[in-house]
Amino acid sequence: MSEWDSVAENVDFNLEISDENFVKTVSQEAKILDFGCGYGRIANQLYHLGYRHLVGIDCSIKMINRGLIEFPHLDLRYFPGSILPFADNEFDSIVTCAVFTCIPNQDVRKHILIELRRVLKPNGVLYLAEFCSEQSQRFTSSAGVPMWHSQQRELKIILDGFNVEQSQVVENSTMSGHASHASHIFARKTI
Ligand SMILES: C[S@@+](CC[C@H](N)C(=O)[O-])C[C@H]1O[C@@H](n2cnc3c(N)ncnc32)[C@H](O)[C@@H]1O
Repeated sequence: MSEWDSVAENVDFNLEISDENFVKTVSQEAKILDFGCGYGRIANQLYHLGYRHLVGIDCSIKMINRGLIEFPHLDLRYFPGSILPFADNEFDSIVTCAVFTCIPNQDVRKHILIELRRVLKPNGVLYLAEFCSEQSQRFTSSAGVPMWHSQQRELKIILDGFNVEQSQVVENSTMSGHASHASHIFARKTI
């Protein structure tokens, strides 16, 4: 059982992605993986931007069940394992939104990144939208989930085999309304 199951029915995630930069960087025909899609909020946003080749995957069955009810037009899949059920080089782009934020261990983050890189095509674009903090803060969220608002530098360290093409830090309040920041990184898989 995922620690996210208990809040899946009523949580409303609020970290924003940059539509403008995504549309400029990723073509409409792209096959996109929304890794850690939760209930499909971001995949649905991409759908409304015109993207149609979308797959969302999440390790919380209750998040996926909610998403399939709220957004029946989306391909959302429950997958609790660590080796993704996709071929090498399958996706043109991968998005994570507030996923590494709730993985407070750098080695676990690195393992996930290796797997994301495997399923991304050479030259494919990884978009990480994650909460961050200058002070690198680990804490337990009001939902009872361990969090790590790492420095943007700590997110970039795990991007082995990628070229960072754009990176920004912007203001984004947390779900509980506290002032905070988010890191937006577009990185391309090196060949
Ligand atoms: C804060 S939520 C964000 C959900 C969604 N990306 C959004 O922004 O609306 C983080 C999600 O990542 C998922 N997650 C965390 N670790 C994961 C893993 N190793 N594999 C798949 N999903 C994971 C959790 O189940 C949770 O739904």
